[in-house]
Amino acid sequence: MDERIERIHKAAEFLKEQLGDRKPLVGIILGSGLGRLADEVQNTLVIPYKTIPGFPASTAIGHKGNFIVGELGGKEVIMMQGRIHYYEGYSMDMVTLPTRVMVSIGIKYLFVSNAAGGVNYEYKVGDLMIIKDHICQQPNPLIGPNMDEFGPRFPDMTRPYDLGLIERAEKIALDMGIKVHKGVYFGGTGPTYETPSEYKYIRIIGGDVTGMSTIPEVITARHSDIPVFGMSVVTNEAHDHYDADYKNDGEDVIKAADAAAGRMCSIFKKLIESL
Ligand code: HPA
Repeated sequence: MDERIERIHKAAEFLKEQLGDRKPLVGIILGSGLGRLADEVQNTLVIPYKTIPGFPASTAIGHKGNFIVGELGGKEVIMMQGRIHYYEGYSMDMVTLPTRVMVSIGIKYLFVSNAAGGVNYEYKVGDLMIIKDHICQQPNPLIGPNMDEFGPRFPDMTRPYDLGLIERAEKIALDMGIKVHKGVYFGGTGPTYETPSEYKYIRIIGGDVTGMSTIPEVITARHSDIPVFGMSVVTNEAHDHYDADYKNDGEDVIKAADAAAGRMCSIFKKLIESL
C-alpha cells in the first residue's frame, strides 16, 4: 500500500480509538497566537500529537502540539492546537497529515485561522479578514500519485472557501459589531518575512494579506470536498516603506494575534453554533 495512506490510516485508527463515541463535526486549525479558542472548548479530551503514530511534533512559536476534542458552540469539534508548517522542514505529506486524519475520522467542515501581514493599505494591525480566496505560492500538497480514496486527480478550486459560510460569518460579525474585511490570502513558504518589493508584488497580483500556512490544509480538505471557512488576523502592516528602525518580529506577530483572537474566536463560535 501507498505509505502515505498507511500513515493516515494508522493515525486515524488511533484517533478513533481515543474518540470512542465522539464524532467531531468540525475540524479547526488554530494559527499563531490564536490558541485561546481551545480554552473555550468544553468536556475536552486532549490528544498530544506525540502520542499519535507517525505524527510530527509542531515546533513553531506560539504553537502547541495537541488535538483538542470537545464541545464548542454546542457542537462537537476537533481542534488542532498547533499546526505543522512547511518552513519547519516537513514534507507537504506531513504538513497535511493532520487534515487527512481529520477528514478520515469524518469531519464535515474545516475551519482555519492564521496570523498574516496586511499588504492591503486599508488593513490595520488587529483587523480581521474573512478569507474569500487564496493565491498559492507554496508547493501544491497534492503533487504526487493521487490518493483516489480522498478525491480526484484534478480537484476544482472555483470555490475554495464556502460561500454560504462566508455570508453567514459576515452577518454574524455585523450583528456582533465586529469589523471584518473580506479578502485574498497569499501563502508563501516563509520562513523569511517578505522584502518590501515582495509585499508590493503580492498587493499587485491581488493579495490582501500574506502568510506562511493555511493553503496546504485548505487544498487537502477541498480535495475531499469538505467545505472550508477561514479567517486571518492582521498582525503587521506589510507595506513597502518603513521607518528607519522598523523590523518584522515574530514576537510582535504573536502579541497582535493574541489581542485580536477574542473577536475571531467569537465569530468562529457563533458560526459553529449555526451549523
Ligand atoms: N508575512 C508572512 N507571514 C506573516 C506575516 C508577514 O508579513 N505576518 C504574519 N505572518
